[in-house]
Amino acid sequence: MGWPYLGETLKLYTENPNSFFSNRKKRYGDIFKTHILGCPCVMISSPEAAKIVLVSKAHLFKPTYPPSKEKMIGPEALFFHQGAYHSKLKKLVQASFLPCALKGAVSQIENIVLDFLPTWENNNSINTLVEMKKYAFDVAIISAFGDRKELEVEGIKHLYQCLEKGYNSMPLNFPGTPFHKSMKKEQEGVRQSLIEEANRGLTWEDTRNMPLTSRVIQETLRTASILSFTFREAVHDVEFEGYLIPKGWKVLPLFRSIHHCAEFFPQPEKFDPSRFEVPPRPNTYMPFGNGVHSCPGSELAKLEMLIFVHHLTTTYRWKAIGDEDGIQYGPFPVPKHGFPIMVHPRK
Ligand code: HEM
Repeated sequence: MGWPYLGETLKLYTENPNSFFSNRKKRYGDIFKTHILGCPCVMISSPEAAKIVLVSKAHLFKPTYPPSKEKMIGPEALFFHQGAYHSKLKKLVQASFLPCALKGAVSQIENIVLDFLPTWENNNSINTLVEMKKYAFDVAIISAFGDRKELEVEGIKHLYQCLEKGYNSMPLNFPGTPFHKSMKKEQEGVRQSLIEEANRGLTWEDTRNMPLTSRVIQETLRTASILSFTFREAVHDVEFEGYLIPKGWKVLPLFRSIHHCAEFFPQPEKFDPSRFEVPPRPNTYMPFGNGVHSCPGSELAKLEMLIFVHHLTTTYRWKAIGDEDGIQYGPFPVPKHGFPIMVHPRK
């Protein structure tokens, strides 16, 4: 890693990414170059330019990650392939997320929610981040194996937690760091009544017809911009909007910058689900990416958010503990101190 550029990488890991990106956009415009994790990069925050990189000229920009992260994900991952082999693999993956497959998962996902929500009651402090990670993990297990296989799950969970810590850390590979560790391992009654009440549990059709909850989820994905940006690499010297991008340079479409641009989303820092009453302008809303590498898990992710938000809001009231409202970045945005809450059943 080039030491002169370490500063920029450190800032990316420690600064609020909204200001990190918007300060640079103000200073240098929609397209500028910098260095992240030791790589020369071109940052892109115009929707049209992002579309060129991800969709219309995707063949000139291959999917890539900095070597430290690529090693961890493994070169055989779907993301690192292109062309015919990628589309064949992708079709296989997408088959698990087609409406006919997700339809069957609604009641399984709902059972997970109805399992853990009652355990939140009468608890002085629920760490929502920890609980949501467990939920997302359990849903992922169902989508991968069809059921929660208790014995294997604990082992997989441990490996996953280790990988996750390393993935979100600085790639400092010496003993003791999360990156190093991760590289080393490549209330029945209440529940019953809830289930009874939910016996008219959610159907797939219900989940397709919840416009308010859907807009809350859309707005959450916009404000959070979970994946702030993605990485591509120029496969040749590419001429691009009057600039020359040398072969081998990284190109980063900045989803967060686009999602937080006042021109496309007025008062971008305001949480306002009603903005999605009209569809966003083309190529300005990409929480799940765009083009051939866009996220195959997007419908599953939205479905699990919808089922959780539905049951939480219709059955419970909650209150934040202390002044813990806020966001911390490491570098992904997560609720400050895990957003501890207290939960009570609705009267
Ligand atoms: C809120 C949750 C999620 C968000 C915000 C998200 C976001 C994204 C984004 C932005 C991309 C595109 C990356 C790029 O073009 O460089 C992507 C790709 C991908 N996502 Fe997701 N994702 C989520 C959940 C999931 C889930 C639940 C799964 C699987 C069950 C999944 C599997 C994948 C895979 C395999 C790719 C690579 C696809 C390819 O290269 O063709 N994601 N995701």
